[in-house]
Amino acid sequence: MAELLRVESLKKTFVTGGPLWNRHVVTAVDDVSLFVARGQTLGLVGESGSGKSTLGRCILGLTQVDGGRVVFDGTEVQGLRGKALHDFRRRVQPVFQDPYGSLDPRWTVGRSVRESLDCYRIGTPADREKRVLDLFRRVGLNPVLAGRLPNHLSGGQRQRVAIAAALASEPELIIADEPVSALDMSVQAQILNLLLDLQQDLGVACIFITHDLGVVEHVSDAVAVLYRGAIVEMDATDRIMRNPQHQYTRTLLAAVPRPPSTARPPPPYQGGSLA
Ligand SMILES: Nc1ncnc2c1ncn2[C@@H]1O[C@H](COP(=O)(O)OP(=O)(O)OP(=O)(O)O)[C@@H](O)[C@H]1O
Ligand SMILES: [Mg+2]
Repeated sequence: MAELLRVESLKKTFVTGGPLWNRHVVTAVDDVSLFVARGQTLGLVGESGSGKSTLGRCILGLTQVDGGRVVFDGTEVQGLRGKALHDFRRRVQPVFQDPYGSLDPRWTVGRSVRESLDCYRIGTPADREKRVLDLFRRVGLNPVLAGRLPNHLSGGQRQRVAIAAALASEPELIIADEPVSALDMSVQAQILNLLLDLQQDLGVACIFITHDLGVVEHVSDAVAVLYRGAIVEMDATDRIMRNPQHQYTRTLLAAVPRPPSTARPPPPYQGGSLA
């Protein structure tokens, strides 16, 4: 499989604020190595605080790392500046849980998508308006919605706009951080199906961050399980789902709602050895 992204021994620590006697070091990402092939989706799963978002931000180059490397398409991300950094930002796009974070509340959502086309000079200025409408159709939105402000759309519609804005730059990798967690169950399924469609049609790779193993099951080729900043298990999705090796993975799996016939008894995980 052709490599798109490689993360090697990545480390990120934070020193918590407050008075000196109360400060301590949190290891948010602890010696993480992973690999994403072109067009593949890697699910990154773990409970709250396990370091998923920090790892995503380190890969995006939004957070400075303390050690290790992020290599995208053969080039180390940490050293990128100027035009090379701009090009990396075009090729690796984030989608966040809360689309309000990426959509300017004062702009029509069409303008937000247009901004991405302008920023990365996609297409000619003359055909960008048409591209905006095409992107709206591509993510299953009626193009008339392009003239609305974000707060006049539903949560699911806003997330579709955020996905359109991410797709506008024709990325090769999308880092989606809990993109459906804030949505109702029925809307979650629609957005997940959209992401699957996009992956199949456009061949865009994805790192899909979630605390819910049941969600990654549907969208990921491979899964990495994070516990306290470290990967405890990484394998093809069907192998992880059928035969999890680590007790923490089994605990996450037990939390996935299943029809009664396939329900597994939930083994409590109280920490301990990660081996
Ligand atoms: N800017 C920061 N300053 C200090 N500590 C931080 C900072 N960002 C994250 N952390 C800490 O790093 C650890 C990992 O946080 P992170 O947000 O990456 O986890 P997460 O897996 O994304 O959690 P969630 O599922 O709640 O989004 C946590 O202990 C968190 O408190
Ligand atoms: Mg997070």
